[in-house]
Amino acid sequence: MRFVGYAVLVLTVVANLSLGGCGQRVEQVKEVAASPPPEEMALPEPKLQGELSFEEALAQRRSVRSFTEEELTLEEISQLLWAAQGLTVAWGGRTAPSAGALYPLEVYVATANGLYRYAPQGHKVIIESQADLRLKLWEAGLKQDAIRDAPAVFVIAAIYERTAKKYGGRAERYVKLEAGHACQSILLQAVALNLGAVPIGAFYDDQVQAALSLPPDHEPLYIIPVGHPRK
Ligand SMILES: Cc1cc2nc3c(=O)[nH]c(=O)nc-3n(C[C@H](O)[C@H](O)[C@H](O)COP(=O)(O)O)c2cc1C
Repeated sequence: MRFVGYAVLVLTVVANLSLGGCGQRVEQVKEVAASPPPEEMALPEPKLQGELSFEEALAQRRSVRSFTEEELTLEEISQLLWAAQGLTVAWGGRTAPSAGALYPLEVYVATANGLYRYAPQGHKVIIESQADLRLKLWEAGLKQDAIRDAPAVFVIAAIYERTAKKYGGRAERYVKLEAGHACQSILLQAVALNLGAVPIGAFYDDQVQAALSLPPDHEPLYIIPVGHPRK
């Protein structure tokens, strides 16, 4: 995934500005270098048409646990996040249904370049970390190698309270059902992009939370490694 890291951004700015070589530009460089890392990043618009029919994607979906080292493009990451929870209508409706339209899910993606949280409003990501957290995630996920080897590892977490405030004890059921919807959308979108993925439910919740420094109310429900299938 070719997310632009902050260091690269600074270096690029330095390189561009140093071409002119005047004092004012040096000041500009210092200013940019001293500012905090960018907190969010816009994603490319999702495509609404693909090469595979829905039926073909369903028929071809299989759990894939072995990946090549090829990274995902930003377009692919963007498309997968949109498939999970993207907005599809002006009032805020999303690709996946949600009990009471309360949207308890938060979707994260960990790559070699960092950890990103999807913000459906505005179709962008919040940059949560610029560290590669996949190894920690792999340990939290019973050392299942798909988590270590995939170029992009999606994590679906849920804030139960968003649904519980309306539905009380029924929320636990609703939120888990919703995670299933979002997961299947990622899996089918992966197939449609000629990628492979596996839904992983076997992990230590608290360790996943610690690995990603998730807020205490973001409870992880699914880990979904995605990459180019190793044939
Ligand atoms: C709730 C759930 C949890 C799963 N957890 C894991 C897991 O921890 N590790 C894994 O390799 N596969 C996991 N899987 C994938 C299943 O093993 C897989 O779906 C099953 O073997 C059927 O194969 P298929 O997905 O290719 O149809 C999980 C699937 C589901 C639905």
